[in-house]
Amino acid sequence: MPPVITLRGITKTYQTGEETLHALAGVDLTVEPGEFVAIVGPSGSGKSTLLSILGCLDNPTSGEYRLDGANVAGLSEDQLSRIRNQKIGFVFQAFHLLPRLTVAENVETPLLYAGLPAKERKQRVAQALARVGLTQKADREPNQLSGGQRQRVAIARALVTRPSLMLADEPTGNLDSRTGREVLALLQELHKAGSTIVLVTHDPAIAATAERTIEVRDGLIVRQEVALL
Ligand SMILES: Nc1ncnc2c1ncn2[C@@H]1O[C@H](COP(=O)(O)OP(=O)(O)OP(=O)(O)O)[C@@H](O)[C@H]1O
Ligand SMILES: [Mg+2]
Repeated sequence: MPPVITLRGITKTYQTGEETLHALAGVDLTVEPGEFVAIVGPSGSGKSTLLSILGCLDNPTSGEYRLDGANVAGLSEDQLSRIRNQKIGFVFQAFHLLPRLTVAENVETPLLYAGLPAKERKQRVAQALARVGLTQKADREPNQLSGGQRQRVAIARALVTRPSLMLADEPTGNLDSRTGREVLALLQELHKAGSTIVLVTHDPAIAATAERTIEVRDGLIVRQEVALL
């Protein structure tokens, strides 16, 4: 199997007026199938920029990105959104659920986009909700749920397409520490079941649960640490 992620010399430059900001200044990274990687680093160091590129939400300015062995740098918006839908599950700090839809409808959204038939959608949604322990809440709306439950819905929505890569940007950042630990335990379970996960966190305790920690500073990977688990 090829690595899930291969980055070579990835840069991202933002031009605002006169100023050129090198958000990523040449990142090399390989992530193998089934790895759990944490990205840490100070505010503004480029963590979210890196995750957006990994998630095909944004194109790098230069460099090569292979996802499951296929080159994704320089693809069109349409091609990127198709790859996002097929290969990537994204979990954000602020959940990003659609407020007018039920829990089940939120989880179903990426399957509608993928064009799956109704029967399979229903099965997959039921499986995903069971996976995160929210079968009982299928018909609720997000505002009727706790923060931890909302994040579990977001995780169900991320895994319902069976992505090759799960990306999480501060997934516990809006949660109290106990609820955050529950969400982290869920991600750990998914990892044990074979998911490849890349997670951004400020919390050293969370980073310590990953197999590998990558530290980003000024748009560069300055340190990698492999845990002795
Ligand atoms: N759309 C944009 N336009 C201009 N500059 C940007 C843009 N997005 C990010 N930046 C800049 O790029 C740098 C990296 O930002 P990024 O969001 O990746 O940091 P981060 O490590 O995720 O920080 P935090 O821990 O605060 O979330 C910052 O200096 C930021 O101001
Ligand atoms: Mg960020």
